[in-house]
Amino acid sequence: MKFLGPLVLVFLWSCQRTPSPFEFPRLKEETQDSSKLARVALGEKLFFDPLLSIDTSISCASCHQPKFAFSSPQPLKDGVHGSPAKRNIPVLINLAWSPHFMFEGGLPTLERVSLSPIQDSMEMNLPFPLLIDRLSGHSVYPSLFKKAFGVGPTPATVVRALADFQRSIQSTQTRWDSFVAGRVELFNDAEKKGWQLFMGKAKCYSCHPPPFFTDFQFHSILPYDGDDGRYRIDPRPEMKGAFKTPTLRQLAFSAPYFHRGTAANLDEVLNAYASTHNSNANVRLSKEEKAHLIAFLLTLSR
Ligand code: HEC
Ligand code: HEC
Repeated sequence: MKFLGPLVLVFLWSCQRTPSPFEFPRLKEETQDSSKLARVALGEKLFFDPLLSIDTSISCASCHQPKFAFSSPQPLKDGVHGSPAKRNIPVLINLAWSPHFMFEGGLPTLERVSLSPIQDSMEMNLPFPLLIDRLSGHSVYPSLFKKAFGVGPTPATVVRALADFQRSIQSTQTRWDSFVAGRVELFNDAEKKGWQLFMGKAKCYSCHPPPFFTDFQFHSILPYDGDDGRYRIDPRPEMKGAFKTPTLRQLAFSAPYFHRGTAANLDEVLNAYASTHNSNANVRLSKEEKAHLIAFLLTLSR
């Protein structure tokens, strides 16, 4: 994949994976027939193509940049994907396993997510009939759609291709993956102590369990900032200001952190846990323990 360059963050199914006690569960659809590969390749092309915005100025990748694990170092965008609030741009990895999407989990499929920014006036602002006209009159897209779906561009095939590409973005071969697969010599002392803290006293595993390092559930961690989060969909008091637990994979590339990008680095994240109102997450760590935990967290990135 040409855009990855030397920073290989992402592995497709075709990669060999080391067996580990924390294998990713099998997905329903794992066949690699040629139309599947054609759909993923087409989705990749669409993801990077500014043709999907009204003035051909932005693509999905303008916000979800591959070198930042498909997130962005710019923290806040005006409410996008139909969200009323300014939110941080999340990483897009291992989403094939996510049961719901967006910080409040309001969208059930990647097809629905991919539909939302294209027509949204805050984002790409392109009416679908115009997009289909553009793609149908394009020099290469009609034949790529034919190869992938047997039909030309339609709203359904556009979002299906985008979703298939996003489902193919996976991150598995980190140092941690090799460590738990038996290569214990890959971790230094600090990283081993950090892994023990993560699975023990610091209680991080309870919401960020391996191998995805997210439970895909919703919790309130930070002081309420006016963004209701999950409460918009599930109006129980404990859901006020609750957001989907983010994965901790690729953290080295995805700062700033939290739903509004309020933590610039991992130190600031751990400080937030020292004062959180959430008793399941509240943990005070010594300076040394914090350093160990951060050393471990970074093994999930490469
Ligand atoms: C203007 C910046 C911007 C553009 C353009 C954009 N996104 Fe997003 N994306 C975001 C932000 C911000 C969020 C988080 C929004 C929220 O949860 O309310 C997000 C969330 C997502 C998510 C949810 C991830 C998760 O873990 O639940 C997916 C998937 C996604 N975007 C895919 C796309 C695709 C595909 C495109 C192009 C068709 C696209 N985005 C275009 C900014 C953008
Ligand atoms: C009760 C569940 C829970 C526990 C326990 C928990 N987290 Fe979180 N974590 C979350 C949620 C939810 C968020 C997103 C919060 C937000 O943005 O408002 C989050 C966000 C993060 C982020 C920011 C990731 C990003 O991409 O923005 C990091 C890093 C993190 N947690 C690390 C940890 C560590 C380390 C521990 C153990 C000390 C831990 N978490 C314990 C639920 C939890």
